[in-house]
Amino acid sequence: MNSSSKQLPLIPPDATTAIESDFPILEISQLAERESWRKEINRPIYHIHKWWGTRLGSVFRGITLAALSSPGTNIWNNFYETHQFTNKVVLDPFMGSGTTLGEAVKLGAKAIGCDINPISTFLVRQAFTRVPETELRAAFTRLEQNVAPDIRHYYQTRDPHTGELIPVLYFFWVKTVVTPTFETIPLFSSYVFSKNAYPKKKPKAQIICPNCWGVIENRYDATDLICPHCQHSFNPQKGPASGQYITAQDGTRYRIKDLLPSNGNPPAHRLYAIMALRLNGEKVYLPVREEDLSLYAEAEARLQSEKLPLPTLKLRPGHNTDQARSYNYTYWRDFFNSRQLLCLGLLLRSILEIEDQAIQEQILCLFSSTLEFNSLFCSFKGEGTGAVRHTFSNHILKPERTPLENSIWGTNKSSGTFSTLFESRLMRAKRYLDYPFEIDFQRNSNVKQKVAHKPVSSQSINVHRVKTWEQFDSRKNSLMVINGNSSELPLPAKSVDAVVTDPPFFDFIHYSELSDFFFAWLSPVLKNRYPEFAKPDSSDIGEVQDKIPRIFARQLASVFSQCRRVLKDDGVLVFSFHHSKAEGWAAICEAVIIARMVVVAAHPVHSELRAATSQTATKNPICLDAILVCKKSSSFNVHLDAQTLISKTETLAKQLEKGGISISEADRFVILASQLLMPLSQQKRDFNFVCNTLQRIHQLAQKSWNSIFPTYV
Ligand SMILES: C[S@@+](CC[C@H](N)C(=O)[O-])C[C@H]1O[C@@H](n2cnc3c(N)ncnc32)[C@H](O)[C@@H]1O
Repeated sequence: MNSSSKQLPLIPPDATTAIESDFPILEISQLAERESWRKEINRPIYHIHKWWGTRLGSVFRGITLAALSSPGTNIWNNFYETHQFTNKVVLDPFMGSGTTLGEAVKLGAKAIGCDINPISTFLVRQAFTRVPETELRAAFTRLEQNVAPDIRHYYQTRDPHTGELIPVLYFFWVKTVVTPTFETIPLFSSYVFSKNAYPKKKPKAQIICPNCWGVIENRYDATDLICPHCQHSFNPQKGPASGQYITAQDGTRYRIKDLLPSNGNPPAHRLYAIMALRLNGEKVYLPVREEDLSLYAEAEARLQSEKLPLPTLKLRPGHNTDQARSYNYTYWRDFFNSRQLLCLGLLLRSILEIEDQAIQEQILCLFSSTLEFNSLFCSFKGEGTGAVRHTFSNHILKPERTPLENSIWGTNKSSGTFSTLFESRLMRAKRYLDYPFEIDFQRNSNVKQKVAHKPVSSQSINVHRVKTWEQFDSRKNSLMVINGNSSELPLPAKSVDAVVTDPPFFDFIHYSELSDFFFAWLSPVLKNRYPEFAKPDSSDIGEVQDKIPRIFARQLASVFSQCRRVLKDDGVLVFSFHHSKAEGWAAICEAVIIARMVVVAAHPVHSELRAATSQTATKNPICLDAILVCKKSSSFNVHLDAQTLISKTETLAKQLEKGGISISEADRFVILASQLLMPLSQQKRDFNFVCNTLQRIHQLAQKSWNSIFPTYV
């Protein structure tokens, strides 16, 4: 699909930027879909550390380019060109992992990012800091010499064939509870603990014998097995745990929560299997032997005797933390076992000895990144796929019944370990600063079969990080990363050309509840350097986050009002949004109106599958974001009747569908609602009017959609 062959868009007479009239929705959607398959490889700079709700870089490149280009510019024709918007200033008031900032500086613009969360500002500063690769490698090598042997010592086991000590890739643990009759029961729902991601093709699986705890290799779907080690006969598919209950040997059923330790500690764990790496590179599953238990006991004892920089922060009550708290996880250090605490503590202590602060903070960021894959909230994904399901794979922090203990330092066959993330995350992100490539693929046919090319279409990322507006204003290529509430930006009025952002969506993600996991480790070591780390935790009263639409609208409006103040009169505020309910859109409309802005354009683009509020979310997912373009005023009155809106929605949906983007009914609702925001924000309609109008037009639209989506009526 070539945009140049499309009908030319109508350019509003008072348009000052390209994004007000047109956007290459199909081309960018195809690219975004492609990027989303491996975001951390395709845009490594935004993935040096965990952040939640990161947006796709290609979409934000397109938005930023269109927000800085003159009306009528063909954005797709210019997408892979190198640009130099030298004096343009782009602001992201909800910076997150820094996607807008990176895309803006790649286009030669200056960028300002603000986030209220200390972890966000720390990781963005690290992402944009250039350090000589040789120095980073030298620091890593010193750690490898000084502390790695100590850590590796705790991640080894004996090869029963050769008698040699070999490195451990994973320790497999299971939570246990004790019944009133003193029976200790492991919380297995199945005794099959390892199988292939495609078990029908590769049925070989690993099973634990509930009698002798031997490891048995058999089929993933075996139902009737005699243990070759102890002759015990059992059904591997049926463990004692099922849902919230466990069944004791005498058949009594107990609620698991009723059997949690009475001393207030989290449930105990039992080590039940090991995956190790033979010297010939072969991976092997092994049962747990005395020597393995002694090694763990040794780590436990050493943890008591060492003085280590370990977290002391308590979990706050909250949406994401309550489930963990109800399993007696009270402190963030409870998320780690003694060996993990010891080895992470030894590693962190060594990192803090690095004298060069810039290098030390890069490595600290890597350390923090490693935590995500090395807690007791990780689990095993199986063979044939990335093995470690990380701590945040559930939006709620869910205590794992069968946690996976990854090895902290790692081997060349590991993933999610300090040494492997050094190459795959940190070094890759640093290289991206020199070679900030885009992904490209041959268009005009099936996207999925195409090989991506990686042209470098941008300036290399070489920014001057500054702290004040005066410094920012006086230099080229400046970047300002602010920690704070974006409803109070330390910027002069009318200083910004474009605000490009992705606001929080109601309370879909509780950022600071989750980021406390990292804050607990980083705050003790950074609190004397950065005031935001001296706070009791990573939360802030000013966070934009509420599930009640009108409260959320007010919070968002306070940031949007600030954006209006700092925005030049001809500038645009562009943000992404989607929602499955009319109230969600009415809240956005209200925020825009309170901030004295108007929506002048809305473009649907592919986004990643995200949490939707609808009950039918899995059948009817939202895969589109609306890119909403706002200005301080518009003299171009949009009059859209219901039928025009419905047919415009259909035209946009068909345009995407023809290019291979699948559009659900919920996606059509996103297109419809976003188009409706143009006239309603101009007419300053109130919350209830927006809700009612949208619901009424949606009902009308559904009549024509019924023929397309018969299953949802
Ligand atoms: C949806 S995320 C942005 C994600 C970002 N687009 C990315 O690609 O990583 C929203 C961000 O807004 C931040 N935030 C919430 N309230 C804020 C406020 N009042 N001021 C500044 N940042 C805020 C959150 O901490 C979160 O990082």
